[in-house]
Amino acid sequence: MTKYLQFTQQDLQLAGQLVRDGQLVAFPTETVYGLGANALDEQAVRSTYVAKGRPSDNPLIVHVWNKQQIYQVASHVSADAEKIIDNLMPGSITIVLPKSSIIPSVVTAGFSTVAIRMPKSVEARLFLQHCNVPVTAPSANTSSRPSPTTWKRVQEDMDGKISAVLCGEDCEVGIESTVLDLTHEQPLVLRPGVVSPEQIQEVLQKPVSVVTDPTAKVNSPGVRYKHYAPKVPMALNTDGNVQKICNFFDSLVEQGFNPVLLVAEPSKFGGRTAVCIGKTDQEVAHNLFENLRKLEQSHNYIVASFCSTTSFGTSILNRLVRSASNNVF
Ligand code: TXA
Ligand code: MG
Repeated sequence: MTKYLQFTQQDLQLAGQLVRDGQLVAFPTETVYGLGANALDEQAVRSTYVAKGRPSDNPLIVHVWNKQQIYQVASHVSADAEKIIDNLMPGSITIVLPKSSIIPSVVTAGFSTVAIRMPKSVEARLFLQHCNVPVTAPSANTSSRPSPTTWKRVQEDMDGKISAVLCGEDCEVGIESTVLDLTHEQPLVLRPGVVSPEQIQEVLQKPVSVVTDPTAKVNSPGVRYKHYAPKVPMALNTDGNVQKICNFFDSLVEQGFNPVLLVAEPSKFGGRTAVCIGKTDQEVAHNLFENLRKLEQSHNYIVASFCSTTSFGTSILNRLVRSASNNVF
């Protein structure tokens, strides 16, 4: 039986105790809900992979609530890492550093590096503080599904599989943290997020590269897998051409589908079933995974359209392309 806990002193203490006892507890962060386990407990970490159905070669992020803990889980904190820690943490950024020996290799899927994140949401920080150990936390969804941004969506995927869910607010950002590899001379963004390469560049005062081809062979196993996918087929339009989108929609109807459009301005689509994807990048990200999980219940084909030239827009597009399994028109 999964317990549904509130942010009371008593429940927070229980959540922390459960984690220290080797149990799994889901909790909110400002990006998405995470599935927390004691990072120092090999068995607990192993059960995370089982609950999610996650391939064991995809490493987990270690969450900390103070800067001291970073020095415990990393064997070396470079000058660049110190700048990121001082300027962008706590925040929606994860840094990859050489791992220390206290982190079991099951956490890092055998890699000699460890991904570290200090979330900024008050709720996440309260939870981590009550755990009082470093906490591994992948997104709290079944592997390959859209990440959960409300506790109800965690319940959908994890009920009966984990000990507890801390029921907090809906996640503000809505897509996962920026993952930044700092183990080489040149910093490399492995996964784009709300913290932009420009912001990182500004802090480090040096060029930052970004992995653009998600199928490229890089040191971030997670990007290889099917991800963020709704249960129904999905297509993505990236040029906003209304006629083209309408034609695509109509051909689906002819084939017998019951499709829905996920677009910025539903009223432009001549009465076709359409839902607003969001007016700003912030709104689109905040609602994205929730929209996919909602629409898959009422329709059997999702046709999304999104274009944005901002850095954050590129991060959103990265998720959408993969939700649509590269079915882009
Ligand atoms: O916003 C977030 O980062 C959320 C919340 C819960 O903190 N967590 C999250 O975890 O998105 P997950 O497991 O869904 O994604 C972790 C990503 C994967 O792409 C994984 O491959 C990468 O981080 N990663 C983890 N450890 C790594 C390492 N040592 N080197 C390179 N990439 C790593
Ligand atoms: Mg995930």
